[in-house]
Amino acid sequence: MEFFSYLYIENKRPMKRILISACLLLASLSLLGQEPSTTTTAAAPVQPSTVKCVSGPYLQNVTTDGFTVMWVSDIDALGWVELAPDDGTHFYYTDRPKYYDMTGAGINPLTKIHTVRITGLQPGTRYRYRIMMKGLRAFNGERDITFTKPFGANVYTANPPVVTTLKKDYDKLHIAIVNDIHANGEDFSKLFAEARGKYDFVVFNGDMTTTINDEMHMSVYVTPASKLFADETPLYVTRGNHEFRGLFARDWLKWFQTPTGMPYYTFQWGKFFFIALDSGEDKPDDDIEYQGMLSMDQYLHEQAEWLKGVTKSEAFKNAEVRIVFSHIPPRLKSWHGNKNICEIFVPILNEAGIDLMISGHEHNYSLCPVGTSNANFPVIVNDNVELMVLDVDGKTINFKTNDPSGAQTHKGSFPVNDKK
Ligand SMILES: [Fe+2]
Ligand SMILES: [Fe+2]
Repeated sequence: MEFFSYLYIENKRPMKRILISACLLLASLSLLGQEPSTTTTAAAPVQPSTVKCVSGPYLQNVTTDGFTVMWVSDIDALGWVELAPDDGTHFYYTDRPKYYDMTGAGINPLTKIHTVRITGLQPGTRYRYRIMMKGLRAFNGERDITFTKPFGANVYTANPPVVTTLKKDYDKLHIAIVNDIHANGEDFSKLFAEARGKYDFVVFNGDMTTTINDEMHMSVYVTPASKLFADETPLYVTRGNHEFRGLFARDWLKWFQTPTGMPYYTFQWGKFFFIALDSGEDKPDDDIEYQGMLSMDQYLHEQAEWLKGVTKSEAFKNAEVRIVFSHIPPRLKSWHGNKNICEIFVPILNEAGIDLMISGHEHNYSLCPVGTSNANFPVIVNDNVELMVLDVDGKTINFKTNDPSGAQTHKGSFPVNDKK
C-alpha cells in the first residue's frame, strides 16, 4: 500500500488508474506466456546457442554419379555437406568441397530437415562425407542473421561415413527388407543389429509407424537406422497405409528424397530394376474413418499412368530382373486397398512382365504363387517385424526371413522369368 501511495503522491494520479494499469500490464504479460518480471526491463527471449543433429545422416537416391545425404536438426539451421575422396588422407588434410541444400531452388533453406544432393561423381567409387550446420538464432534481414556455434560431424576421433556410388552393373545383389515395424524400435534395432556394411541396400516397405502425430515422429526408426547402417547403406522406402494417418502424415515425403519426388518411383542397380509403388490406404475413400480427407482412387489411377510409362521405358525393357515393392498385396475379394492393387496395378505389371512382388501389410507371412491372385508373378507377403533377405542374381531369386531373435522363419526361391 505504501508503494501505491508513493506513486499517487509523485505522479498525481488517482489510485484506481494505477491499479488498472498494473492489472493490464500483468494480463498482457500472461497473454505473452511470460512470468511477470521483477524488474522494469522485459527479459530477452532465450536463444539457442548450439544446434544438434537429432536424426541421421542417412542416404537417399544413390546413383552412379551421385547421392543424397539427409539429416534432421533440433532447430532450423543452414546445412551443408563436405565431401572427400576415400584416398587415405585425413579429412582435415585440405579444404573439402561444400554442397548445400538445393531444395530451396537457389536460396539456402533454414530448416530442420536437410536434403543435400551431391553429383558429378564417378561410378562404383567410395567417398567420405561430413554433415555441417549453423543453427538460426535470429533473422533480421539478410545482412543481420545470427547463427549458433557451428556444428560439424566428428572427424577428430571418428571416421566419417563412407558411401559408394553405384556401379554400372552387378552380378548379384544382397538386399534387406522390413515392413510393419509400427514404431517398435526395440525389435527394429535387433533386426538390424549386424547390418552395417552387410547389404547392398535396405527397403522399408511401409507401416514403419502407426500414426504420424508430430513433426519428429519419423525419427523413431530413421534415427536407429542411421546409427546402424543408413549413413553408409542406401535406403529406399515405400509408403504403407498407416503413413497416411496423423496430422504430420502430410510431411512424410519431406523425410525422403525419391528419384521422382513422389512416393512412387523406380531405381536400378545394373540389370536389376525395381519399382516402388505407393499402394495407398486400405479402405474406400468415403469411409467414415477418413472424414473426407482422402482422394486415393484418383491418386492411384494417376500413379498407374506413370507406371504404364515406366513399363514402356528402355531401362525397364532391357532389365533382366524386375522386382516390385508394394506395401499392400493384391488379394481378390478382399479389402478395397487389395482390390485397388489387383485392378489398377496388376494388369499393367502382368503385361509388362515382373519376376516378383514383395508386400507386407497383413502381419502374417504368406507366399502367393502365380495364379493365386490375378497376378501372373509370385507375391511374397513378409510378416511384420521380420527381416527378409533377398539374394538375387540373373537366374534365381532366393529369400529367407528371420525374427528379431535371429531365428529363421521362412525361405524359398524363384527362377527369374526369362520369357520377358
Ligand atoms: Fe501394418
Ligand atoms: Fe498396412
